[in-house]
Amino acid sequence: MAIERVIDTQIHADDREEELVERSLRPMTFDEYIGQDTLKKNLKLAIAAVKKRRGEKSEDGTVAPGTTLDHVLLYGPPGLGKTTMAGVIAQELGASLRVTSGPAIEHAGDLASILTNLSDGDVLFIDEIHRLRHAVAEILYSAMEDNVIDITIGKGPAARSVRLDLPHFTLIGATTRTGSLAGQLRDRFGIVHRLEYYKIPEIAQIISRTARILDTKINPEATDLLATRSRLTPRIANRLTKRVRDYADVNGDGIIDAKVAKEALDLLEVDELGLDAADRNMLKMILDNYGDRPVGVNTIAALTGDEAPTIEEYYEPYMMQLGLIIRTPRGRVVTEKAREHLRKVSK
Ligand code: ADE
Repeated sequence: MAIERVIDTQIHADDREEELVERSLRPMTFDEYIGQDTLKKNLKLAIAAVKKRRGEKSEDGTVAPGTTLDHVLLYGPPGLGKTTMAGVIAQELGASLRVTSGPAIEHAGDLASILTNLSDGDVLFIDEIHRLRHAVAEILYSAMEDNVIDITIGKGPAARSVRLDLPHFTLIGATTRTGSLAGQLRDRFGIVHRLEYYKIPEIAQIISRTARILDTKINPEATDLLATRSRLTPRIANRLTKRVRDYADVNGDGIIDAKVAKEALDLLEVDELGLDAADRNMLKMILDNYGDRPVGVNTIAALTGDEAPTIEEYYEPYMMQLGLIIRTPRGRVVTEKAREHLRKVSK
């Protein structure tokens, strides 16, 4: 994404400070993790079962074969806490967590090296698992199913295949789109869950928690205001809270009340629905050029100058959740609700 957006759901690799703060705001346990109740209930049960079996199978609670958590696939829009949940799962299992991502693993050998360096019971988290290259994903199949990998040593006529045993591990994969995950890979996950958008009261709770960790005072009215503009997404709620705190520190006494919150959000051009200038621009472009006719995602991308996957993964899911855009077999259609909203904010 070319422009920096405060409602961006991505963490930028070059922002060390941001990453450190993000990490300190992350809940470590199920009790600290707000929202996603169904997912939490299911995972708690699965983890309790693993721990019980572990206790029965080995005196010292160490990992015996068959007592690791099934592989977990988490999917859903960005910023809803897939990475955070992977950390919580590892913590609750008492396991070490190894974190990587689809695009970071270039060669099959890179993955082989990660897998062979795991210890029994470890959790391996692969973010953006849909972006794994085909040759790399193939290694995962046998690793996930039979805890072995076959690697080729040498080249040409001297090449031979060697089978390596792997430790018993749990893979947690995260993806924004299950559609582009090969069926062979998807089928190897025993636990598959979608992360849902949060409810506004849950986002408000997350904002209160974040303000407490950042040692910032925020009143309930301001918390609610921020919560309604955070796109039902914790990562955005945390980012907005930090930007509003900056505004309160510079233009006031550091306390976030509704007036300060509103001024700061207006400055950021984040409106009452949590849309920013780029979102509104996309809606306007579609309306100006296509009115209420359906339009394909590639055309939208051409209109806004973004890539089609950016539209699909970052702009659309929230706008669809709100009913601003609907998807039809012939393309996307901007709804009357969106028109009304644009009229209101342009007044
Ligand atoms: N920070 C980010 N996501 C969170 C969540 N789901 N619960 C608590 N704090 C969070």
